[in-house]
Amino acid sequence: MEEKEISQAVISRLPRYLRYLTELKDEGVERISSQELSKRMQVTASQIRQDLNHFGGFGQQGYGYNVESLVTEIAKILGLDQEHYIVIIGAGNLGQALLNYANFSRRGFIFKGIFDSNPALHGMKIGEIEVRPMEELKSFIKKNNIDIAVLTIPKTSAVEVTRQLVDCSIKAIWNFAHVDLDVPDEVQVENVHLSDSLMKLSYNICRNKKAEKDS
Ligand code: NAI
Repeated sequence: MEEKEISQAVISRLPRYLRYLTELKDEGVERISSQELSKRMQVTASQIRQDLNHFGGFGQQGYGYNVESLVTEIAKILGLDQEHYIVIIGAGNLGQALLNYANFSRRGFIFKGIFDSNPALHGMKIGEIEVRPMEELKSFIKKNNIDIAVLTIPKTSAVEVTRQLVDCSIKAIWNFAHVDLDVPDEVQVENVHLSDSLMKLSYNICRNKKAEKDS
């Protein structure tokens, strides 16, 4: 298929399509129309058709979408047909929780190592993986073909650790530290702030309360 530039808005919707379609596949559904998918996902059928048309459109008139091939194609588009090797920096509450979540590996995200600057944690096992000192980070990244680093450290340390990661030619950073990172263009950064979702919820609760009061 010809590679076209796809907007980030479409890309950000693909994981949700993949989640729903994988569920359908697991339920044994072979094909689905954009209308049926639209009902399940609460997205308009035309939005679904538009989004999937970016990739040549896998649907056929009167048939709908073949669920299995759509799952395969979307996974391929998202680069999930290959494995990504990951290290976590910061073996505290969040780092350990992420490492313990087994389902990432189902999508090919393989945690290879976890690092921390606190000597008291070195050698401690989280599942099968041992916490390593930061001094081993560079050689570990090289030896294990690591492409993603997860930052679960305080923001005061994140800038310096990012500099080290860039020196190691890391390809991507999944950043949970509450600080914006300055990286070269070739390094991809995805910032995650769970509290942003909570703030959205808070906004909607307050808006509903206000609407009730005003009515
Ligand atoms: P924690 O205190 O349990 O763990 C932090 C770990 O980072 C500690 O083990 C510490 O030794 C290690 N560390 C500190 N400086 C380091 C360095 N320079 N190199 C390597 N390791 C270093 O904290 P927790 O609860 O796991 O949170 C981690 C960070 O993530 C915090 O800064 C917190 O604000 C942030 N956070 C972000 C969330 C988000 O949605 N973005 C949600 C929860 C926490």
